[in-house]
Amino acid sequence: MAVTEPGPVLLTARGITVAFGRFLAVAAVDFEVREGELHALVGPNGAGKSTFLNVLGGQILQTAGEIEFLGRPLGRTTPHRRARIGIGRSFQLTSVIAGFSCLENVVLAVEARHGMLGMLRARPRGEDAQRARELLDLVGLGSRAEVPADELGHGQQKQLEVAMALGRGPRILLLDEPTSGLTEHERQSLGGLLQRVAGRSTIVMAEHDVEFVRRVATRVTAFNLGRKIAEGSPDQVFEDPTVKEVFLRGAAAVA
Ligand SMILES: Nc1ncnc2c1ncn2[C@@H]1O[C@H](COP(=O)(O)OP(=O)(O)OP(=O)(O)O)[C@@H](O)[C@H]1O
Ligand SMILES: [Mg+2]
Repeated sequence: MAVTEPGPVLLTARGITVAFGRFLAVAAVDFEVREGELHALVGPNGAGKSTFLNVLGGQILQTAGEIEFLGRPLGRTTPHRRARIGIGRSFQLTSVIAGFSCLENVVLAVEARHGMLGMLRARPRGEDAQRARELLDLVGLGSRAEVPADELGHGQQKQLEVAMALGRGPRILLLDEPTSGLTEHERQSLGGLLQRVAGRSTIVMAEHDVEFVRRVATRVTAFNLGRKIAEGSPDQVFEDPTVKEVFLRGAAAVA
């Protein structure tokens, strides 16, 4: 992986804690995202990765701590508002409209970027369609533009979700387990896709697949039991003795 200069800081989280009753799913985590990163959150089941991602996206409000995005505190901003200011989340499968073509789905996502007022304003619609086509090309679905979205296979649906999320023009894109359910071949193409996307939008993803993370991530944060246990380049993190032990134990628990 090419060594690139870290970009400016986009997001800073300090002392993030999420309590469910007396249980701490996330405990006092400091975290920073820099522009252009493909930043992976790793750790065994229940480590707190999804919970932390949901705190960044606003789906869960932290019990303690604060997040700054582009130098401003996010406070209790809703997920909808966060999406408008540039923190995007991959759409769930359910938000892909069955019967609508891939292109139509991405056009809808691109139009959502303008908000209600923007949608009422006269604007050349061709612009949105062109942007949607570019995004479909980027994710490798250029030839499937006219195919109904629900006719895609699982891997291609994931590609479509990424195109739709990018349609809103996020500065940071949050992805939870993007490789889940994908074949090895689909993983390969998703890896290439995320690397292309990272050229234009920063990515933070929770991911189980260590090989995948080693291949595509530029920075890794490892969690265990809600705490951050290591952070750095993929090599630094996966060679860390504590991380190795936690992953071995995790593997042993599953076996
Ligand atoms: N709404 C909730 N109420 C109570 N406990 C929760 C809730 N959501 C998550 N947890 C607990 O918080 C811990 C962290 O869960 P989380 O889903 O963030 O882990 P994860 O690292 O994403 O795990 P996985 O690798 O399995 O996806 C787990 O012990 C989980 O059971
Ligand atoms: Mg999870």
